[in-house]
Amino acid sequence: MRMILVGPPGAGKGTQAAKLIDTHKIPHISTGDMLRAAVKEGTEMGKQADIAMKAGNLVSDDVVIGMVIERIAKEDCTEGFMLDGFPRTRPQAEALDTELTNAGVKLDVVLFIEVPDELIVDRITGRRSDPETGAIYHLKFNPPPAELADKVVQRKDDTEEACIARLKKYHSETAPIIPFYEEHGLIRRVDGNAAPDEVTARIKSALA
Ligand code: AP5
Repeated sequence: MRMILVGPPGAGKGTQAAKLIDTHKIPHISTGDMLRAAVKEGTEMGKQADIAMKAGNLVSDDVVIGMVIERIAKEDCTEGFMLDGFPRTRPQAEALDTELTNAGVKLDVVLFIEVPDELIVDRITGRRSDPETGAIYHLKFNPPPAELADKVVQRKDDTEEACIARLKKYHSETAPIIPFYEEHGLIRRVDGNAAPDEVTARIKSALA
């Protein structure tokens, strides 16, 4: 299955990808995670990405498109992939479309997790993750187990200020890709304003 997860920051894309991956057995490709890895490695690209990400801006299309095209050409993506956080702009959506057409394959579904803006800041500023496993928690909605309480970390772009900037970018750059995929009949909308397991159940029924 070739699938895209789209939605505002904090919609629960990463949370749901972790729950779905066991069923679908396809690689979970998160551009946010790939960029954070490049920042950690201190590559030239990582340094540029770090500046954009901390401010809540998007990393340039050229960089992200090249990174994803290279990743989905790998052997483990032959049977499919779950893209999380890509595409995020119309040029990214068009580049992916061209790439898949050239490879003679098609997208199966674009899963759009919808969450109202007023819930986003709380979700983002309360997020913490396990630096070893990448498991995602929330101080209020999904607290880390006691043994991890002192170890979980907060993302540098999870400040209220950066979150508001990311939300603005989402509305100006990413939301406009929804009609593009609607025209292709690929969108499945899921209401993400419920407990995580309930959202998973909604996704499963949307995919059935
Ligand atoms: P990225 O890492 O993709 O961030 P994002 O899209 O802003 O999404 P998040 O990871 O913040 O949220 P999520 O939807 O995965 O939610 P999560 O499951 O963690 O990108 C970061 C940056 O990288 C971008 O700003 C940009 O600079 C750059 N970038 C990445 N891709 C790019 C691209 N294609 N082009 C250009 N630049 C790019 O959940 C959030 C919190 O809510 C957690 O604490 C979780 O526990 C909690 N939660 C989840 N579900 C629920 C629920 N149902 N109820 C209550 N709480 C919940």
